Amino acid sequence: MSIRTLNDRGVLARWKQYLPVTERTPFISLNEGSTPLIHSPKLSAIIGRDCQVFIKYEGLNPTGSFKDRGMTVALSKAVEDGAQAVICASTGNTSAAAAAYAARAGITCAVLLPAGKIAFGKLAQAFIYGAKVVAIEGNFDDALRLVREIGETEPIAIVNSINPHRLQGQKTASFEIIEELGDAPEFHLLPVGNAGNISAYWLGYDEFHRLGKSTHRPKMVGFQAAGSAPIFHNRIVEKPETIASAIRIGNPASWELANTAIHESGGAIDIVTDEEILRAQAWLASHEGIFVEPASAAGIAGIFKSLDPQRAHERRLPHIPDGSRIVCTVTGHGLKDPDVAKEQCGSVIPAKADKSEIVRLLSK
Ligand code: F0G
Repeated sequence: MSIRTLNDRGVLARWKQYLPVTERTPFISLNEGSTPLIHSPKLSAIIGRDCQVFIKYEGLNPTGSFKDRGMTVALSKAVEDGAQAVICASTGNTSAAAAAYAARAGITCAVLLPAGKIAFGKLAQAFIYGAKVVAIEGNFDDALRLVREIGETEPIAIVNSINPHRLQGQKTASFEIIEELGDAPEFHLLPVGNAGNISAYWLGYDEFHRLGKSTHRPKMVGFQAAGSAPIFHNRIVEKPETIASAIRIGNPASWELANTAIHESGGAIDIVTDEEILRAQAWLASHEGIFVEPASAAGIAGIFKSLDPQRAHERRLPHIPDGSRIVCTVTGHGLKDPDVAKEQCGSVIPAKADKSEIVRLLSK
């Protein structure tokens, strides 16, 4: 097999005709994308009425989150434009992806992180990929403001999703879903933080619909953490809080684009509590074998919320007609945030190194 063939699997290689690729664009790729769309028999049965739920498992990208789809395009274009360095603000996953793709490109990466609020796995990634890690006294929104200011005066390319190449790369997840299902789903559920991803999915669904590759566009339903829900409340949240640190954002950069996606699609924005997020995270791992980080479980939590008759008056998710296909993107791998999993579910059975004792303990 030629090296060219081996490298033909990433987002740029697979979808180049829909991406801003020129003859001069290098492919800075780690074979990201083409992630599994996993049917969930249990969630389908819970919703019932012939509805089918599919999980788009973005945690299986090379750095463990959907950010790789956008970062391959952003870094490739930055290198094409002669950049020697890139910078981003992050709640953790963007910085991991930026650091990895910058390493691949052989250029410098600086990341601005809210001090003390980054899940351990993500921090470890930024370190090992060789990024310059700056921990600021402030939250993600402060970090993004600083990155914008630095980008205005310094010779450094911004690779946050305010860089349009990021959304272009991320829209390819919609293409994959349409290819795999043979059409768009009726609903697409996903977590919302800085609101780039919901906007990118909508770009992708809209583009393939206009090209006649799908008969319709899905209703886009975004879920914010209850303590970090600026779009839901339609106001900036000065001090966002949630255990789902990836979506601890009070002033999303793609707020307007997300609103367009939600309104044009006939979808909705809803909130889920930290408790609901953690319950959904543990449920998905222990019932379907899919381990995601807390933020990624927001869409799953949203499904459970929509089915709870006690919460009918609160929910925003539109009615799901019989036979609907529902895709739920789970955005990041569970190993990104091992501490939360350990705190929530980490109980061991202490035992002597003795067979009969172990058998007795296990039969309890
Ligand atoms: N899920 C995960 C695991 C994320 O890391 C993020 C965002 C989101 C969902 C929300 O996506 O921002 O496009 O609405 N993480 C960014 C970061 C902010 O810095 O890694 P969004």
